[in-house]
Amino acid sequence: MIKKCLFPAAGYGTRFLPATKVIPKEMLPIVDKPLIQYGVEEAMEAGIREMAMVTGRGKRALEDHFDINYELESQLRGTSKESLLAGIRHIIDSCSFSYTRQTEMRGLGHAVLTGETLIGHEEPFAVILADDLCVSDSQGVLAQMVEVHKRHGCTVVAVEEVPQNEIHKYGVIAGEEIEPGVFRVDHMVEKPAAEVAPSNLAVIGRYIITPDIFDILRETQPGAGGEIQLTDALMQQARQGRVMAYKFKGRRFDCGSVGGFVAATNYFYHMGRR
Ligand code: G1P
Repeated sequence: MIKKCLFPAAGYGTRFLPATKVIPKEMLPIVDKPLIQYGVEEAMEAGIREMAMVTGRGKRALEDHFDINYELESQLRGTSKESLLAGIRHIIDSCSFSYTRQTEMRGLGHAVLTGETLIGHEEPFAVILADDLCVSDSQGVLAQMVEVHKRHGCTVVAVEEVPQNEIHKYGVIAGEEIEPGVFRVDHMVEKPAAEVAPSNLAVIGRYIITPDIFDILRETQPGAGGEIQLTDALMQQARQGRVMAYKFKGRRFDCGSVGGFVAATNYFYHMGRR
């Protein structure tokens, strides 16, 4: 059973400036719900109730979002608008939220290591990058990954095929397909040039990670872009055959890019009108 989910959420969101000057990018709404809430709902669907967020300066709106706003609630009580708060109220009532701050931006690996204090070393944990918004007709993507983790008991990363001209934006894996859609990873590289990428299978922002990753991350030197890369630390686990890559069922929107954000907005707008 995976109990905790880590949300690295300290990034600046520069691609959405000036919108993200004072609003955390995780609070940008897709239709009427902030990105981070989609992530939290996906974690809940996977049975997780302990949400751990790595935030930073200017991110206090995240904490306020997952807290009660008494004034608003008392204003809406007994009115037709009360139901608009029911979804978030249910999340607040059924989950715990803990926060720690990343004081310097030194990469995703560093962000995950910053979350160590919230996650501990007892058991495997999930990681959701809220920028990657995942939808699925059936089970949510993280819930699918929990199934894979149950079968194999090791780290699981979600992957999807991406076109050649986009591969340089991702962590890329190679490995042997040991069951349909599940690969035992033997190679992982962060943001390779297309010519040297080991495959077209890109890691997207969903992980289940065994806690030995923290000790590995402490020793991980800066890699691509001069940052401490989670991919490099995961490669250490992969060397021992302890990483599975899972080709998830569903669709991912890269909401860290304007195009992906607009596509997700269209998707959810039309879903809501069905
Ligand atoms: C991060 C990871 C990368 C992964 C990507 C998925 O990169 O470092 O391995 O493929 O998320 O969205 P970023 O998008 O933060 O540059």
